[in-house]
Amino acid sequence: MPPVHFQVIARDPASAARLGRLTTPHGAIETPVFMPVGTQATVKTMTPHEVWDLGARILLSNTYHLYLRPGHDVVREAGGLHPFMAWPGAVLTDSGGFQVMSLAPLRRITEDGVEFRSHIDGATHFLRPEDAVRIQNDLGADIIMAFDECTPYPSDREYARASLERTARWAARCRAAHGRPDEQALFGIVQGSVYPDLRIESARRTVELDFPGYAVGGLSVGEPKPVMYEMLEVQVPLLPEDRPRYLMGVGSPEDLIEGVWRGVDMFDCVLPTRLARHGTVFTRRGRITVRGAAYARDWAPLEEGCTCYACRHFSRAYIRHLLKADEILGMRLCTIHNLHFLLRLMEDIRQAIAAGRLAALRRDFYALWEEGAE
Ligand code: GUN
Ligand code: ZN
Repeated sequence: MPPVHFQVIARDPASAARLGRLTTPHGAIETPVFMPVGTQATVKTMTPHEVWDLGARILLSNTYHLYLRPGHDVVREAGGLHPFMAWPGAVLTDSGGFQVMSLAPLRRITEDGVEFRSHIDGATHFLRPEDAVRIQNDLGADIIMAFDECTPYPSDREYARASLERTARWAARCRAAHGRPDEQALFGIVQGSVYPDLRIESARRTVELDFPGYAVGGLSVGEPKPVMYEMLEVQVPLLPEDRPRYLMGVGSPEDLIEGVWRGVDMFDCVLPTRLARHGTVFTRRGRITVRGAAYARDWAPLEEGCTCYACRHFSRAYIRHLLKADEILGMRLCTIHNLHFLLRLMEDIRQAIAAGRLAALRRDFYALWEEGAE
């Protein structure tokens, strides 16, 4: 039995959106799904119980961070990420390819892998595709990711081609090195920068390797939104219909809707939790930064009508006070609200697909979103 099983349950008549169910060793997940990020085996400021109560059933964690600290051997000794962090749901780990490039100083890419300095103590490490997979085997997530290069933006066509070809060779090496194929699903990652023909080429080469799921990488890295949407339109239809499709690092409300519209099933992003720690929250009318002076005597909740714990009990004025006074509760309340907002949006999206009315949800979403809140 493969470790994960994906089933498309319904299709939206007006778009490429699908309602699906992803069955994992740690429960079934309704898709389209947003995965909160727990980079260091914790969703910052939240207990697993709180994240579960917000409706999350799958989290993302990071190979790069856990390899450097506390070490994958420590996590393995704990019995894997699930018992280590006391999370009863599913976990997906990213492979480290992206974090090495964005966080580590002094990295060097070769055919064999990536040499980099740790952002923690400056020590030199070398990570090959085989290492990234074995580390993820130790971390024990339900879904693990191939080691890729997130092609930087902008990149010229020659670099983007060389990069996608190397990523495709690394994907084959990852598959060959996977030590727990009956327990963990290894997803491939497609690249191709902003060049439609390279996106097509990358999809073709990755799909040939027959992964149980596919991620679209190298997007939301600085390119204009219409370009990202065009790349999805080019690439997503080339990914097998019966496998989950995951758009990496994407999580703004409008990008979730546009990704789902184009056939994406899974998303992750640090945006809701990171914005929250800076006092910025989502509302149906756009973002507001509740740290701002304008909220000092604002007795309304973060968002009128929101049913999250923060909005049921606290005013903007109080949360602003907590944030200004550097009280941890301020960050916690904003995180609760933002995760609730995105998880609720995904729930609404799933219901809309089931009812064949995603176009109406999208129209209603933009009508409010474009009004602006600040
Ligand atoms: N997170 C966001 N984008 C990417 C990507 O292209 N590759 C990987 N591995 N992780 C990502
Ligand atoms: Zn709220």
